[in-house]
Amino acid sequence: MRAVEIIRKKRDGQALTPAEIAVMVEGIATGEVADYQWAALLMAILWRGMDATETAALTEAMIHSGTMVDLGAIPGPKIDKHSTGGVGDKTSLVLAPMAAAAGVLVPMVSGRGLGHTGGTLDKLESIPGFRVDLDLGRYRDVLAACGLVLIGQTAEIAPADKFLYALRDATATVESIPLIAASILSKKLAEGIEGLVLDVKTGDGAFMVALEDARALARTMCGIGSGLGKSVVALITRMDQPLGRAVGNALEVAESLDCLRGEGPADLVDLSIELAAEMVVLGGLAGSLDEARATCRRTLADGTALERFGRLIQAQGGDPRVIEDPARLPSPRRQVVLTATTAGTVQRLAARPVGQATMLLGAGRARMDSPVDHAVGVVVHKKVGDPVAIGEPLCTLFVNDESRLEDARALIRDAYTIGPEPATPGPLILERIMTPLSRSSS
Ligand code: URA
Repeated sequence: MRAVEIIRKKRDGQALTPAEIAVMVEGIATGEVADYQWAALLMAILWRGMDATETAALTEAMIHSGTMVDLGAIPGPKIDKHSTGGVGDKTSLVLAPMAAAAGVLVPMVSGRGLGHTGGTLDKLESIPGFRVDLDLGRYRDVLAACGLVLIGQTAEIAPADKFLYALRDATATVESIPLIAASILSKKLAEGIEGLVLDVKTGDGAFMVALEDARALARTMCGIGSGLGKSVVALITRMDQPLGRAVGNALEVAESLDCLRGEGPADLVDLSIELAAEMVVLGGLAGSLDEARATCRRTLADGTALERFGRLIQAQGGDPRVIEDPARLPSPRRQVVLTATTAGTVQRLAARPVGQATMLLGAGRARMDSPVDHAVGVVVHKKVGDPVAIGEPLCTLFVNDESRLEDARALIRDAYTIGPEPATPGPLILERIMTPLSRSSS
């Protein structure tokens, strides 16, 4: 079967067979399918879609591009969480230590920045010395020692996703339900977990802007996950303004440390607790979500979550002194404050342009191999519902390369709408979907 025939078939809107999908995925490792052929297939999938059978086949082929990790020798419930991606979404850095301190084993395989959204791996690499490229032996050792481990795809865990993830980022083919579902599930189901909590984002800063698309993605992932024998819970959460205040790699690590000290912004803390509580319940460590929430809050109040994060940093080669002294994180040459030119209340702070501005400042990749500037980003001081006076700071841009500063500034100016009416941000959690597919509003 030739790659070009498979691409043509999808281009013309036909369903691919599991064997055809396997040829394309296996061809990544053997070199029989070229990057440009996968780029063409990705665009065809984005336009033509994939049905449930094709999506499940793509997920399985991607899982089998590497090994299924066996964590059976490490006692305890292995539960992970994954987000479909948002702006300022750093919950992994907060909830993984929380869940670990509550007794869950969190063997997390994460991704890099994608499109206008940041990635957990890029954030972690802003901690001096932190290594995300552990081999499987070290992955197991760190998990056993710390109760959590955070790495990227390796040659062993879903390597096809590592390749496709970077290619999608560079070819504007991220926003596709089957591609997102297969990307997330392949790495998550290969990592040796029993249960998975999904944070499916919706709103202008998410890949699934419309709620019904987010719901379809959540259902697809719950269906495939349960078909492969895992317990999966998905929360559909709002991503129409940045989560927390910081957007950009080192800035987000610093804000996560604030949360772990019990001082972070309420939206970020609340969502992190909610997701961690789901992990605790899936792991069988609490009888109800209320009990699990109380446990998670306690791990923040008594410092055990922060202590776990420090242990993790040390175990993965990072400088644990950032815990006490976040000034050790990279900082940029310049800070530029944007002030309000109208008085009123913030009606809207669109997440996507804030994410795009952060990418323009250098926090993301223009090409698969572009370097990331860990120091740059945006901190928003005013969010939806906040009163603003003329001349008050709206946000601060953290800048190294000034060549794109004006474009970034213009994006952020357009992201804000300030008006006379009062405004309140909507609820963060919109729906909860569980396997078997029973949906309930929360
Ligand atoms: N996270 C992933 O791992 N993959 C995607 O495609 C989107 C978010």
